[in-house]
Amino acid sequence: MSALPWRLRALALRPPVPAAAALAVFVAGAELPAEALRTMKPLDELVAVGLLERTGDRVRAPLAIVPLGAALLVCDRHDAADDEQLVCWPDDSSYHLATAIEPGRRARWLDLACGSAFAPLARPELADEIRGIDLNPRAVRVARLGAGLSGCRHVTAEEADIGAAHAPAALVTCNAPIPNDPDAAIWRRAGPGFFARMWPSARAALAPGGEIVVHSTLEAVPADLDGEAITVVYTPPGERGYAVTWWRPGAAGRRIVCQRALTPARPHLDPRDRDDALAGRLAPRDSAA
Ligand SMILES: C[S@@+](CC[C@H](N)C(=O)[O-])C[C@H]1O[C@@H](n2cnc3c(N)ncnc32)[C@H](O)[C@@H]1O
Repeated sequence: MSALPWRLRALALRPPVPAAAALAVFVAGAELPAEALRTMKPLDELVAVGLLERTGDRVRAPLAIVPLGAALLVCDRHDAADDEQLVCWPDDSSYHLATAIEPGRRARWLDLACGSAFAPLARPELADEIRGIDLNPRAVRVARLGAGLSGCRHVTAEEADIGAAHAPAALVTCNAPIPNDPDAAIWRRAGPGFFARMWPSARAALAPGGEIVVHSTLEAVPADLDGEAITVVYTPPGERGYAVTWWRPGAAGRRIVCQRALTPARPHLDPRDRDDALAGRLAPRDSAA
């Protein structure tokens, strides 16, 4: 999905076959005759919850609904104008965080800065109870819509700052925004003090024996995380570092920063990278680079 926006304009211009009408409206953003969606549930219900706009006999989706595994993710359209409260189309950072989490069922998972709840909806099997928090009220609204459309009653979302206190969770995750990003959207741009609040907040919310998984720029990862902290950078040396950090504050002290090249077969980080880093199979990366 992160690679699709480049092709969507062309898809939206082509009259869809009936089976593709929902994809044309909700993914490609096409405006179509209401008749084209006749096989869907009553259109009035979709209008009532704000997922469809009807003008005469034409329909258009004000938000995107993106297939994500067995779930449906709601976010802003791929052609939405930049805005502070924009809830961005999923990008590769969303995939890196979601695929980096180890499998297994936990009681509670706290996803800090959840946005559209990409990670919880991509991996809903990972916890009995999944709570996302985000500062952006529009993100919270679309995260709830996505959880509802996906039938994931155990996924909830609340409006809160990154520094707020939470009940203990065995898994705490964050796909963080970027320091000093010029973008208007808080989806991309980290505000002042974001990381000074995020790392302690994640640690404070972690249940004993649990794990924190963070996607961020390399410069946003503190050098002095306690316990075991494994950072794998996936951008090439010489480019700004983007990385996933697996942090177990309760484990024996160990700090590793290394590098893994992305490949067509493995385009995103995953738990094997953590194992490879621990086994010394990845090249070290200068954490200041
Ligand atoms: C890169 S996006 C990640 C969204 C989602 N987790 C994903 O992976 O697709 C960063 C998120 O951080 C949120 N955010 C920014 N500043 C925040 C803050 N101070 N407290 C909580 N969330 C914040 C933004 O609204 C945005 O949803």
